[in-house]
Amino acid sequence: MNKRLILGAFMRPISLHTAWWKHPQAAPDANMSWPILKDLALKLERACFDAIFMADHLAVMSMPQSALRRSATITSFDPLMVMPALAACTSRIGLIATGSTSYEEPYLVARRFASLDHLSAGRAGWNIVTTVNPEAAYNFGFESAARHADRYDRAREFFDVVTGLWDGWDDDALLMDKDSGIFFDPAKVRALNHKGRFFSVKGPLNVARPVQGWPVITLAGGSDAARQMGAEKADLFFSNSSTFDTARAFYADVKARACAAGRDPDQLKILPANQVYVGRTTAEAHRKKAFMDDLVHVDSHLPNLSLKLGVDASQFDLDKPLPELPETERSKGHQQEWVALARRENLTVRELARRAARSGIGEMIGTPGEIADQMEKWLLGEACDGFIMVFHSAPEGHDDFVEMVVPELQRRGLFRTRYEDDTLRGNLGLSRPRTHG
Ligand SMILES: Cc1cc2nc3c(=O)[nH]c(=O)nc-3n(C[C@H](O)[C@H](O)[C@H](O)COP(=O)(O)O)c2cc1C
Repeated sequence: MNKRLILGAFMRPISLHTAWWKHPQAAPDANMSWPILKDLALKLERACFDAIFMADHLAVMSMPQSALRRSATITSFDPLMVMPALAACTSRIGLIATGSTSYEEPYLVARRFASLDHLSAGRAGWNIVTTVNPEAAYNFGFESAARHADRYDRAREFFDVVTGLWDGWDDDALLMDKDSGIFFDPAKVRALNHKGRFFSVKGPLNVARPVQGWPVITLAGGSDAARQMGAEKADLFFSNSSTFDTARAFYADVKARACAAGRDPDQLKILPANQVYVGRTTAEAHRKKAFMDDLVHVDSHLPNLSLKLGVDASQFDLDKPLPELPETERSKGHQQEWVALARRENLTVRELARRAARSGIGEMIGTPGEIADQMEKWLLGEACDGFIMVFHSAPEGHDDFVEMVVPELQRRGLFRTRYEDDTLRGNLGLSRPRTHG
């Protein structure tokens, strides 16, 4: 069978483009509107998308009021409240939500994602992040975010506890035998008795083993620690790679690490984030992008660059190249990608900041044929297994992609025309984890 793209849709807020809510057709409250979120999910399911993905930052973003007051990210639903609602009105599309390993508790995360997997009949995914937003620390009783290396140490132990709790149940533990009156077999439900550096969790979980064994495990990040953990543990890897060459290098690196960890590299799917602008002509696509970029206010430029670089960019000379930076304790992956962009294109700080405020990820611009050409090149050129799509605004961004690009991808045999399976793992071609009990 031909290689086919995996497509996920980034849905919280509606777009990563800072000005998405100012688009003339956009409902500015779209990320708080259940009818709109539901319609978008149904539209994406009709287009056979693999999954909807909702990010989470556990605090308002770390930026000055002058920029924050322009950002629709200021109000964001808890993804794990939205996903069960979407589970009730969809039947095939996967539902991936972020669950932070730095601020959540593993017992609660294991329980919530197991619950979502049952409620959605096997369509849940857990996006593991160590949480990049430093403001989150102040909402959980900390004086600062933990150091990068400690965040990943905690993430690994967190993962072991969560998956250990899921594995504490055999698939056939529930007898539900009315004649004997025995509901479950105690030999098939085991306590975890975990005692580690960060967590002490007895178990067992009070939710039966997830339908998929484990919900689909996603990891988002770009640092060495993220690459290694993703290569060992993840089913899906969300990456920041923004060019074909950086994506190819990332793909080769992470797949090689997966092989070295004894995994089948085909069981780890790599999806860079990708914002698309589609037009009936190339010029129209570029006009759409220019229109969106012109909607971004200058007050948003530097604060967004500071987020990407993990250092305060307002201290730099705007009309000079980006200086050498100290390594950040925030997102090392983001910093590497943005420093590389500045050097590659010889950008001044001012130019780089304008880019950062738009969306800060890879972009594809063109006609449906041109977009499909680029996606095909990335897929067949081993730069990705698919994409996590970001739409510049709703409904225009979603409609353009679903109505123009998806049929072109389907015509080329690069994307499904109907779901193959009922579960997210099944549709992604991922095997089901077995218990070790
Ligand atoms: C598609 C995608 C989704 C992401 N979702 C989140 C998220 O929900 N919450 C978050 O804190 N960071 C999110 N990130 C950012 C990375 O997780 C961030 O880089 C993280 O702090 C890991 O840092 P590292 O690159 O130093 O490993 C996302 C990144 C990508 C590419």
